[in-house]
Amino acid sequence: MKQENKNYMENNISYDLNEHSLISPLDSESPLLEPKIRLGVLASGNGSNFEYIIKSIQNNQLNAKISILIVNNPDCLAIKKAIKYKIPYVIINHRDCKSRLEHDMLVLKKLEALSVELVVMAGWMRIVGEEIINRFKNRLINIHPSLLPSFKGIDAIQQAIDKRVTITGCTVHYVQKEVDSGSIIIQAAVPIKEKDSKETLKKRIQHMEHIILPLAISKVAKKIRTSFKDKK
Ligand code: GAR
Repeated sequence: MKQENKNYMENNISYDLNEHSLISPLDSESPLLEPKIRLGVLASGNGSNFEYIIKSIQNNQLNAKISILIVNNPDCLAIKKAIKYKIPYVIINHRDCKSRLEHDMLVLKKLEALSVELVVMAGWMRIVGEEIINRFKNRLINIHPSLLPSFKGIDAIQQAIDKRVTITGCTVHYVQKEVDSGSIIIQAAVPIKEKDSKETLKKRIQHMEHIILPLAISKVAKKIRTSFKDKK
């Protein structure tokens, strides 16, 4: 497999990836898609991945437009980032819904109303049902903080620490019915150091997430515009 030595800029710091981690595959480039691919981002937490998608667009590393941020709880910090960067957002509170299906259908309706082409689960802490998965087949991706298929489900970072593995990482994958099981798009390996706490490890994993998620979006966007043409 071709492994290039690439430098990435983040917060004005240049990282030599080979010094820190391993990303594979590392063949992504940002294709110039016209019109730009329309993204829907789903988030439940701090929104750091959401923010790095925005930064990648601003840096021209990602040729995309975020049509909407959808959050499932009103306290989600991603909202603050949407306001900061003037990205449209909507709160679809799962607590206001009688069932998972009702919530999923509201999310789906919003995505369809905005003609979203690619849905990115960026820290979306909910299982999505078949209605969304089938409607966005090959156009729904998730980021997970482990080297899948290891450590699926919740608290993947703690799972890796508990198992005393020495390398973990993060994965962007397509979403299918079984949780954290769809085809892998890109992964980054992150060593676990002896002195790591969950927080220090999380920081290094998330640093790699911020790099691979925009790369994965570019890769899938290119596929959507070539092979998976929407037949609507
Ligand atoms: C990320 O580390 C992501 O991998 C994880 O939630 C975090 C969200 O951070 N997702 C999962 O665990 C999904 N199973 P963020 O809100 O700062 O982007």
